[in-house]
Amino acid sequence: MKKIIITGGAGFIGSHVVRRFVKTYPQYQIVNLDKLTYAGNLANLKDIENEPNYRFVKGDIVDLAYISNLFEIEQPDAVIHLAAESHVDRSITNPLEFVMTNVVGTVNLLNAAKNIWKDDYASKRFYHVSTDEVYGTLGDTDMFTENTAYDPHSPYSASKASSDHFVRAYYDTYGLPTVISNCSNNYGSFHFPEKLIPLAINNIKQQKPVPVYGKGENIRDWLWVEDHARAIDVIFHTAATGTTYNIGGHNEWKNIDLIQLLCAILDKKLGREAGESAKLITYVTDRAGHDLRYAIDATKLKNELGWEPSITFEEGLEKTVDWYLANEAWLSDVTSGHYQEYYSEQYNNR
Ligand code: NAD
Ligand code: DAU
Repeated sequence: MKKIIITGGAGFIGSHVVRRFVKTYPQYQIVNLDKLTYAGNLANLKDIENEPNYRFVKGDIVDLAYISNLFEIEQPDAVIHLAAESHVDRSITNPLEFVMTNVVGTVNLLNAAKNIWKDDYASKRFYHVSTDEVYGTLGDTDMFTENTAYDPHSPYSASKASSDHFVRAYYDTYGLPTVISNCSNNYGSFHFPEKLIPLAINNIKQQKPVPVYGKGENIRDWLWVEDHARAIDVIFHTAATGTTYNIGGHNEWKNIDLIQLLCAILDKKLGREAGESAKLITYVTDRAGHDLRYAIDATKLKNELGWEPSITFEEGLEKTVDWYLANEAWLSDVTSGHYQEYYSEQYNNR
């Protein structure tokens, strides 16, 4: 049976990837390796936690001895690496934590895989999940392709760019069978409410101010998280070794327009007067080094591997809002931090 270590599987995107792999591939053994930082929440995986092909291990990818030992014991055939510090604002206040997890943690995993595979790379794969932010920022009309030069601006994107370089270096130097994908902004269920969409939904619901950085003119290219998980599945199974794919939804939104849309959706769903929620919009100081525009050209992924987004943004956003309204307990747990106390007690010392 093929064994895959998925790192960061208790996070937002990781939980969707774990669920997809556990449900779609009963012939695989899925080991979810996660440190359970503030962003990791095993409640995201409640529906599959007892599946026979799923197992959780609590561990820190920065801990070299722990990771080397884990790989020796588990002998995975593949790694899908999503564990990371993922929030740009946090990287501005604590860059070193991003270097440790995103750079050192990635190199520890690359090394551990190289050591156990011992140059026998037949049917092995190291899949690194990365971001479009490594490419920097765009003008009005251009798009990021796989050939766009790296130009990261935030400590977060600099750490992800560095990790991408190390993954390529392990391919070029040691022949480690790597694949990388760079994806645009995701949205959907289990998204931690520090990020724009879930934060706005939560604040609008609670009649709290919705902070818009700067003039709200920055543009992001939004993708339904389950479409990202499906793209990872397709790339994991069919991409050639050493390749890179961009993943995106062809779905650019100015932040202020997106927030206005969320306000309108929530006015309807919460029975408020049209325009009531928009009164919560509050312009605040801009993010330092705020990239103006991201947009992904995912033509290579479409043409070579046949992947395309499956739903429109309007459908996805409606589903997302419905999910947050229906999952009040999840939202209040993550905003109170209660889940962390519960799960760290349960999994410490395992
Ligand atoms: P997230 O913050 O929701 O989850 C990150 C997960 O990693 C958490 O479960 C956390 O506990 C775990 N983790 C953090 N540090 C760890 C460590 N030292 N050891 C083990 N586990 C650790 O992140 P996300 O938004 O789901 O992003 C997942 C990956 O996808 C990241 O690599 C991110 O750079 C990339 N990405 C995210 C987006 C997006 O829009 N969210 C877009 C493109 C790429
Ligand atoms: O592009 C992919 C990246 O998307 C991922 O690599 C990151 O892990 C992920 O966090 C996301 O980064 P962003 O910085 O684009 O996402 P965030 O949700 O933090 O912000 C989206 C936009 O909204 C950005 O222009 C900043 C703005 N913003 C954000 C917050 C949290 C606001 O205006 N107000 C806010 O309160």
